[in-house]
Amino acid sequence: MPTYSFTVNGETVTVDAPADLPALWALRDKLGITGPKYGCGIDVCKACTSHIDGEAFNPCVTPVAEIAGREVTTIEGLADGDVLHPVQQAWLEQDVAQCGYCQPGQIMAAVALLRRTPDPTDAEIDAIENVCRCGTYFRVRQAIKRAAELMRS
Ligand code: FES
Ligand code: FES
Repeated sequence: MPTYSFTVNGETVTVDAPADLPALWALRDKLGITGPKYGCGIDVCKACTSHIDGEAFNPCVTPVAEIAGREVTTIEGLADGDVLHPVQQAWLEQDVAQCGYCQPGQIMAAVALLRRTPDPTDAEIDAIENVCRCGTYFRVRQAIKRAAELMRS
């Protein structure tokens, strides 16, 4: 079987996998990185949202061969040691999570948005496509606005 090397959360890893194995399974099953969640497997729910080279991507529809040589960040790699990322801090302040299942993906989508758009409008926030079965959208919006403040201060 071929092997693929890439960086995850600052660490270089190598996995042994068929080229078309979804990167989500390389992360979760081969590397034990379970922050990115499986919801649909077809790029609809966005529960698996992580970053590749600093941009949001959905590893459930990205073959492992495509991430070779690239830099992947999952929710596990967002904090700086014990210091939470401002988006994580804002999430706690606003008590966003309900069941929690979609939340790693929501946070990674929010970080990607704020990187591109430091002061997003409601419409820009609402354009995030991550699905939440618990309906936390209002608190997600409040938390993104709070994170934007924290990141400016
Ligand atoms: S699991 Fe639904 S978009 Fe990846
Ligand atoms: S918090 Fe339950 S699915 Fe979003």
